[in-house]
Amino acid sequence: MNITFSKISVPTQGVVVLGVPEGGKLGAAAAKLDKQTRGTLSRAMKTAEFTGKREKSLVIIAPTGTKVTRIILMGLGSPKTLDNVAAERIGAVIYDLVSKDPNVTAVLENTDGALAAHVAGGVALKSYRFAKYRTKEDKDAKPKLKSVDVQCDSPSDAKKQHVAVEAVVDGVFFTRDVITEPPNVIYPESFVARAKELTKDGVKVEALGEAAMKKLGMGALLGVGQGSVRESQLLVMRWDGAKDKSTDPIVIVGKGVTFDTGGISLKPPAGMWDMKWDMGGAGVVVGLMRALARRKAKVNVVGLCGLVENMPDGNAQRPGDVVTSMSGQTIEVLNTDAEGRLVLADVLWYAQQRFKPKAIVDLATLTGAIIAALSEHYAGIFSNNDDLSAKLIAAGQAVSERLWRLPMGDEYDRDIKSPIADMKNIGGGRAGSITAAQFLQRFIKDVPWAHLDIAGVVWNEKGTALAPGGGTGYGVRLLNRFIADNYEA
Ligand code: BES
Ligand code: MN
Ligand code: ZN
Repeated sequence: MNITFSKISVPTQGVVVLGVPEGGKLGAAAAKLDKQTRGTLSRAMKTAEFTGKREKSLVIIAPTGTKVTRIILMGLGSPKTLDNVAAERIGAVIYDLVSKDPNVTAVLENTDGALAAHVAGGVALKSYRFAKYRTKEDKDAKPKLKSVDVQCDSPSDAKKQHVAVEAVVDGVFFTRDVITEPPNVIYPESFVARAKELTKDGVKVEALGEAAMKKLGMGALLGVGQGSVRESQLLVMRWDGAKDKSTDPIVIVGKGVTFDTGGISLKPPAGMWDMKWDMGGAGVVVGLMRALARRKAKVNVVGLCGLVENMPDGNAQRPGDVVTSMSGQTIEVLNTDAEGRLVLADVLWYAQQRFKPKAIVDLATLTGAIIAALSEHYAGIFSNNDDLSAKLIAAGQAVSERLWRLPMGDEYDRDIKSPIADMKNIGGGRAGSITAAQFLQRFIKDVPWAHLDIAGVVWNEKGTALAPGGGTGYGVRLLNRFIADNYEA
């Protein structure tokens, strides 16, 4: 989609969206259009009781006195609460109203560059489609939107601000793409191949195969992948954007189980297809790297993805196996379906051995229990550091990717004691998201760390405010904001 920004003028043709603030007072250009149409706009607003409430709209078809084909009055709500997320959500509503029109002009009077850029961002975020495997499609079902011209008070500022907004949209799309791809297409090595596209954005990308991981002693991660014909991979990405290249990095770690059958502790068939997005955490990490690189973020960030396929097989690990992790700690694997924590255990350890992280944030579709607790409305956050946790929660609030903190503590850690090894990979069946987090914490030394359990928010069949149905890209905007607000001087 082609997005342009220009000065406010009175549109003379095509489909026109007019932003209307709460209270219903039309801007100068909108008022002119009202006059040209002999008061059609004000009459329609009165009749429909349209007052400019946020995200409410009123469509006027073929108004007289102008060649404009359709005027959409778009409620902006109160200017006082019109922030960047509100603007994005308005953009998403606009997209749904105009997706069948090729060219659209959006007139946003009395809004600054940042808001105009974020409205454009919202239009783009909602326009995401994944149609590469369709060979036939109803013509009328296809969106036709090609170009959006956003008129605002300071188009040059909007254009500047839009560079960063577009970088983040690109990142979200990259994340949604890898999440949506079927599991026969995305497996550990092909995921790495996709990630190598990031080198064009300036990201350094390397990968460790099974031999290299074996040398490092990553018995926990390798045990998960040993039933798969696909070779496990550890993906390492670096964006060194800080002025001082030697600044310690923020490390972001993603669970990348490209398909989770449960292994020998096999999952039931119904819904097993959802486990193609069990690499959602890794998907966020690659999308974030793209966003940071494309907006040239002034920060050093390392992205790590533990990539494995969890399959039942003659060579698969068994319930009862004991594996030795890179940390040296041993794990009794009582349920091969609790595999994400095994993968993360080694990647988290590697993160601390190789880098000197300022902070580590991991993202994982780790537990069904987090969906029972929070549904699709919040992701769970677990942390050993109040400050880090508060910063992440604030960033999530700011971009409307919300986090809810859950407790940790020794009383939960006791649940993962094993009679024959240092720990077992399942708890006692209660507070499953917390015992999973306790497991991860056993692989954290004294670095600020937060674990985001995103099992409930990676995929949304109905769609969300900013995403059509499917992969949401949840996490990219959150971490982008977290990094921008706290680590870019
Ligand atoms: N990938 C699943 C968690 C999951 C479930 C993600 C539903 C998204 C939607 C994870 O590997 C898993 O199977 N967890 C088990 C852990 C249990 C065996 C302790 C679970 O949550 O049931
Ligand atoms: Mn599992
Ligand atoms: Zn899993």
